[in-house]
Amino acid sequence: MNNSEDIIILAIESSCDDTSCAVLHNDVVLSNVTAGQAIHQQYGGVIPELASRDHQKNIVPVADAALKKAGVNLSQISAIAFTRGPGLSGSLLVGTSFAKSMALALDIPLIEVNHMQGHILAHFIKEKTEPHLSPSFPFLCLTVSGGHTQIVKVTNHLEFELLAETEDDAVGEAFDKAAKIIGLPYPGGPLIDKYARQGNPGRFKFPMPNLPGQRYSFSGIKTAFLYFIRDHVAQDPHFIENNLNDICASYQHHLVSYLLKNLKAVARETGIKQIAIAGGVSANSGLRGQLSSLSQKEGWTCFIPKFEYCTDNAAMIGITAYYKYLKSDFTDLSVTPLARFSI
Ligand code: KG4
Ligand code: ZN
Repeated sequence: MNNSEDIIILAIESSCDDTSCAVLHNDVVLSNVTAGQAIHQQYGGVIPELASRDHQKNIVPVADAALKKAGVNLSQISAIAFTRGPGLSGSLLVGTSFAKSMALALDIPLIEVNHMQGHILAHFIKEKTEPHLSPSFPFLCLTVSGGHTQIVKVTNHLEFELLAETEDDAVGEAFDKAAKIIGLPYPGGPLIDKYARQGNPGRFKFPMPNLPGQRYSFSGIKTAFLYFIRDHVAQDPHFIENNLNDICASYQHHLVSYLLKNLKAVARETGIKQIAIAGGVSANSGLRGQLSSLSQKEGWTCFIPKFEYCTDNAAMIGITAYYKYLKSDFTDLSVTPLARFSI
């Protein structure tokens, strides 16, 4: 390593409740280490103050582990990358301060990354051992996470156009809040996915929002789910436990169908047939399955990230920083986090 072709980036992600550090050699990931925060489970959602405290505890050991796993020492690092936003202010501040201190101490460039761009560019992460196929430009990306639901047109590695987004809740929240209503722990999205695999997706029906254009709205679906459960439980106190799989399968099928309905409309409007998904909810097996079938019908080539690059991770921050490094797009040490940061 370390001739002019060798760019080594240490990347840091701390926008919500995962502390993650990754080391990349050009566009190849050498390590990607993440410490989750179990503490939020007992509260049924992320508590921002506790999240930033845990980031403070975790960031040094996680960075150390990522460097050791990659077999890289501090003198080999070409640049430090970090998530500037969007996210929780206190959480972002920990990663930003750590990145700034590292860049200052090592006297190397600092690169800020937009978390939503990171989720999309996760499609360009390469691994040493596995062959990799990335989308070609332009492509559409449906980015679905706990905080966002967006359809983005990607023209090159650093050019993004937001074509549709949610008016209110994100689809990840629609999963997590429904899970809470039926008594599942936070974050409930993966559990709804798990029970849905054994259930009948056509058993229960929910209303489909119909906003002009391809905008999303999930608050009405969430409220409909709350009333649906309340009314059934009033008649049968064991309704949830006796029908858990069918409830999860039907609700998940509804959310996924809604996501794909608008994606199909945008794809037809733009004529783009390279279609990607990204973000935590792209781990959902229902979304992966329904997207694959729709892709066959519509003649799309679809791109689905590996599980470890769906949810928040620093490798996606590192790959975005790599493309910024190639353009010498560096940040100075006066940079501050942005809780709101458009793509
Ligand atoms: O991208 P991410 O890790 O963090 C944010 O930037 O928000 O996404 C987290 C979200 C949570 O709402 C979680 O419930 C959801 O992704 N999620 C899933 C699945 N895995 C994670 N939702 C449905 N099915 C899954 N398998
Ligand atoms: Zn995210």
